[in-house]
Amino acid sequence: MAPEPITTDQAAAPTAPVITIDGPSGCGKGTIAARLAEWLGWHLLDSGALYRGLGYAAANAGLDLDDGEALGALAQQLDLHCVGSQLLLAGTDISADIRTEVAAAAASRVACHAQVRQAMLGWQRNAAQPPGLVADGRDMGTVVFTAALVKFYLDASAEERAKRRYKQLKDKGADANLATLIDDLRQRDARDRQRALSPLLPASDAVVIDTTTMSVDAVFAEVIRALPASVRR
Ligand code: DC
Repeated sequence: MAPEPITTDQAAAPTAPVITIDGPSGCGKGTIAARLAEWLGWHLLDSGALYRGLGYAAANAGLDLDDGEALGALAQQLDLHCVGSQLLLAGTDISADIRTEVAAAAASRVACHAQVRQAMLGWQRNAAQPPGLVADGRDMGTVVFTAALVKFYLDASAEERAKRRYKQLKDKGADANLATLIDDLRQRDARDRQRALSPLLPASDAVVIDTTTMSVDAVFAEVIRALPASVRR
């Protein structure tokens, strides 16, 4: 990752408007964020992919995922780049590698360390470039972009989120077990929600949408309705 000067001033005004979409794994935020970015013609930041990329690189380098010092040092000099929907690690496309359940668990573990979150901060804020940025993750509205124009928090029951993941895996022809997926998801939820730093929670000024029984189209329509007229096309 290109070392960027890290801004600790959370109120630092972003150089472009930002819309944040946070929520737990499988709530549909990635799909909605990508659709919204395309609809607005804005940039997209999938912050989870950064943590997944770091988790993947750390596991490959044989690092202990509990060693915050070593992981923070790795995050500072990681050669990670987003090119369109691809994630490149030292020039190699790792987009598929980071989408496994193992990579997701590694991402959730490396994301607990202060050194890692600090290293990610400047990199993420730097993505707020004109004409605007749609940022998806766990702490986009609460920590990284506290001055965002609009903040969304999407949620859904653990069972529904696991079912969506199960269907995705089956559609790809991959092996999947629903009970294991629900278990993994609950563990990851607990780690993401209970960690001391930047825990997953809705910002106090977030628009909260429970997507459990909603279609993607219905969620997207609600998101569009909540946008200020200044950005609605
Ligand atoms: O959104 P995702 O499932 O790709 O994220 C993978 C993990 O990365 C998630 O379990 C927690 C971590 N993460 C984080 O701590 N903060 C973010 N802004 C995004 C992801």
